[in-house]
Amino acid sequence: MRFAKSSKFWVALICLFAVVAVVAAGGSETKGKFYFKKTCKTCHAKGAAGGEVTPLTKTQAQWKAYFAAGKHNKGADALTKVMPADQLVDVETFLTAHASDSPQPETCGG
Ligand code: HEC
Repeated sequence: MRFAKSSKFWVALICLFAVVAVVAAGGSETKGKFYFKKTCKTCHAKGAAGGEVTPLTKTQAQWKAYFAAGKHNKGADALTKVMPADQLVDVETFLTAHASDSPQPETCGG
């Protein structure tokens, strides 16, 4: 009986760490919006060199796959050429949160 109780305790503790790890891996939506507007939008506003890109350009799954692949500019460059990996995590969080099939789709002010 004693043993059963303590093993439940360890299971609960491990689950807690798993949740903390997932939260820690997620980026900041607010920071992501800032980096997206500051950097990505210089080439991705309407009529700019890279063509218009907004959170609505892709679905949540498509954004996740895009950042997982880490390729940019038709696969020619690494996304890390655009900004450091920690900022990319924030941008991914922002874009995914407002993707075309997200609960809060938005165009990010054009
Ligand atoms: C220096 C200019 C520049 C910056 C900064 C830039 N891009 Fe791009 N991006 C491009 C160009 C050029 C293309 C290729 C456009 C085409 O397909 O004709 C492109 C393509 C894309 C595409 C279409 C798929 C692909 O990879 O070809 C997406 C999505 C994209 N960029 C997202 C982003 C995001 C997100 C950021 C910020 C992290 C960003 N871009 C920053 C120039 C830029």
